[in-house]
Amino acid sequence: MPDTHTTPTAPGGGLVPAPLSIDGPGRGTVRLGADTALAAGPGTEGTARWLRDTLGAAFGLPLPPGSGNAPDTLALAVDPALPPEGYRLVADARWGVRITGGGPAGVFWGAQTLRQLLGPLAFRRAPLAPGCAAVLPEQTIEDGPRFAWRGMLLDVARHFLPKDGVLRVLDLLAAHKLNVLHLHLTDDQGWRIEIRRYPKLTEVGAWRERTKLGHRASPLWDERPHGGYYTQDDLREIVAYAAQRHITVVPEIDIPGHSQAAIAAYPELGNTDVIDTTSLKVWDTWGVNPNVLAPTDTTLRFYEHVLDEVLGLFPSPFVHIGGDECPKDQWRASATAQARITELSLADEDELQSWFIRHFDRWLSDRGRRLIGWDEILEGGLAPGAAVSSWRGYAGGIAAAKSGHDVVMCPEQQVYLDHRQHASPDEPVPIGFVRTLEDVYRFEPVPPELTAEQAAHVLGTQANVWTEVMDSQQRLDYQVFPRLAGFAEVAWSRLPAPAARDYQDFTRRMAAHYTRLDALGVGYRPPGGPLPWQKRPGVLGRPIDGAPPNV
Ligand code: ACM
Repeated sequence: MPDTHTTPTAPGGGLVPAPLSIDGPGRGTVRLGADTALAAGPGTEGTARWLRDTLGAAFGLPLPPGSGNAPDTLALAVDPALPPEGYRLVADARWGVRITGGGPAGVFWGAQTLRQLLGPLAFRRAPLAPGCAAVLPEQTIEDGPRFAWRGMLLDVARHFLPKDGVLRVLDLLAAHKLNVLHLHLTDDQGWRIEIRRYPKLTEVGAWRERTKLGHRASPLWDERPHGGYYTQDDLREIVAYAAQRHITVVPEIDIPGHSQAAIAAYPELGNTDVIDTTSLKVWDTWGVNPNVLAPTDTTLRFYEHVLDEVLGLFPSPFVHIGGDECPKDQWRASATAQARITELSLADEDELQSWFIRHFDRWLSDRGRRLIGWDEILEGGLAPGAAVSSWRGYAGGIAAAKSGHDVVMCPEQQVYLDHRQHASPDEPVPIGFVRTLEDVYRFEPVPPELTAEQAAHVLGTQANVWTEVMDSQQRLDYQVFPRLAGFAEVAWSRLPAPAARDYQDFTRRMAAHYTRLDALGVGYRPPGGPLPWQKRPGVLGRPIDGAPPNV
């Protein structure tokens, strides 16, 4: 027998992330059925469409249009008195369900809460049998996010994730009330965005002949070619799909390091007076790569042209230009780079990197956008309008916030989800630090060193998903879940200080949440450890914790 009835649990229903407040329980339940109408006030049409697509499909409900004042209605409205992403959800046995958001986004997050309250069946794409019940207890929920930037970085350069996988990730972010997808589109190992002016970026740069299997010290290779890229129409679709879910896609084009795929496609971008860049291929292994962009006018113009096309595709106010892990050896050895340092009266190669970044900071701000980069962009002086992704710990973010720059906190010690989730050698290809679900749950994005004024520069937080050792959707699911659920609560909910967080309560709510993830088909790490097919025996990770985590 299929499990066709969700038994409503306590009001709140094990919500993840936890809302600000839940009032209840009323004695009654609300049942959404074949006659339940959907009343969409101005500004809520997108959420109405999403509800018909998801809840309508899951329960076989038509949700015909209705007016807000009749019984048996799911009513959506905007009330600007609430914060833009805040919402109130009232489930009342006499009337039905009313979701009021401060703006369209708030209504959408309220709809995500409704879906969770309806139980795991609401996460399926078709009913298990005719007449599956969509039932929730009477209650009132008031809610709204702590941070405006609640992100996840997805590295599609190391391992390409086909477009349908990205759309799935967007659905999973939305289900956790996360609202930024930082898409890492270029790296040494692959260039994943079609650029019309420079077709070789994808003809040459979007695939590699083979791939290191496991940590870079592993002797194993996957001898299959690996690759793929998104056409501009694919990216328009991804951006539009994200926008329907109130998610901003922040593109990352990494400069001046992490650029070997681009140099393999266009050898003139590299330091041609130091190495024979025509011999470079898209990189097939992992680590920090010495082959970086040459600081020439040719390179600047090339990347301006690339970014011209990027801006046309991504409406995001922020554009990420990387800036991390740029070894300076080639610049030290290059007469061209040294001449540039002299010409610009720069002190050293760090200032040359800073000049590179400042150039694009100005270029982006002239076009109404803002630059964001990894915390290395602080070295040699931060460009005036730039924001920082603080990844090497909190220090970069603290320095940036203290000097009045905006920050996204994503320290690798806490929220790099490629890192192993348990100390057991059974973890598949274990790398980096051991960071359990509880560790992530106790992550605090705002360090105590910051004054309130400085802390206001912490736009929010982001979990980063680097994919060197994640070559499939299954591996991605395993690394990302359940930790992303804990992270989402950190980013959304107003949790107390880390030591005071009620992890037991979170664990209880996770019991409900695992049933939702099951219904969604997410291959998370079970609390007891990997299932046999989630292990990767024989593929070397980096088994010593505490070592520098760089793959
Ligand atoms: C990074 O992890 N290199 C930003």
